[in-house]
Amino acid sequence: MSTVIPRSDFARDILHVYAVITWVSAGIALVVFAALFWILVRFRDTPGAPLPVQTRGHTLLEIAWTVAPALVLLVIAIPTIQVIFRTQAAPVPQALEVTVLGRQWWWEFRYPTLGISTANELHLPAGRPVVLKLEGPDVIHSFWVPQLGGKRDVVPGRLNQLTFTASTPGEYWGQCAEFCGVSHANMGMRVVVDAPDAFERWVAAQRATAAEPSGLAAEGKALYARSACVGCHTIRGVSAGVLGPDLTTFGSRTTLGAGLRPNTVENVAAWLRNPPALKPGVKMPPLGLTDGEARAVATYLLSLR
Ligand code: CUA
Repeated sequence: MSTVIPRSDFARDILHVYAVITWVSAGIALVVFAALFWILVRFRDTPGAPLPVQTRGHTLLEIAWTVAPALVLLVIAIPTIQVIFRTQAAPVPQALEVTVLGRQWWWEFRYPTLGISTANELHLPAGRPVVLKLEGPDVIHSFWVPQLGGKRDVVPGRLNQLTFTASTPGEYWGQCAEFCGVSHANMGMRVVVDAPDAFERWVAAQRATAAEPSGLAAEGKALYARSACVGCHTIRGVSAGVLGPDLTTFGSRTTLGAGLRPNTVENVAAWLRNPPALKPGVKMPPLGLTDGEARAVATYLLSLR
């Protein structure tokens, strides 16, 4: 996560303001330290030296140190205000809309125009403007993917928007940036920026119906379908719970538990046996599965891609 390697127009705008402020501050620091050094040497105490000339009231100095800071603030204010307005602008009509819901402690991403929904890993097409509509169903969270744009709060009862165009395909890490409870630090996310054709393929894969599993995965599916899982999770065609993340294409995600661990059979099985052991405060309770059952369900979930 880095704010100085921007990969969107929004992040570049912010880096521009940051650079202006940094260079102005560096210039001021240089002048202040040079003057300080010169004064320390020039007016150092030497035995027998006379008292230097004492100045009281100096109109030119008074004007200078009033005008100079005002000019510094003006130089910083102009690009800052420009960027504030640019980053608050209404989205262009062809922008891809994504609803972002910050939940304790994971992210839900819905694409209303594409009819798909995912969690914790947001896919976006490179080169196309996107508008993220931030909604908070529980407490205040803050959406922050440093390389793609500014931090913006997700507030219950308020619709915030974040508009940007990602420039470069790649995987960018993000993090909830507003303390939201015991697992706030475990509320990470990934944004995968795809080339336009790769994004189309990803959308098609999200919409596709999963093939009927076989072997251990089939056992896992049967276990899943008769467990408490179905009350909270959606797997299209299998269950329709809405409290937890949609698992329809769970196996296509690279991480588990909002960026917590790599999405492997071992980690998913460990999660299924005891979620709070991996993520304190998580709302998913231990399901009382044996090691073998947890492995079967994990194998099934990872086959959904
Ligand atoms: Cu969500 Cu911090």
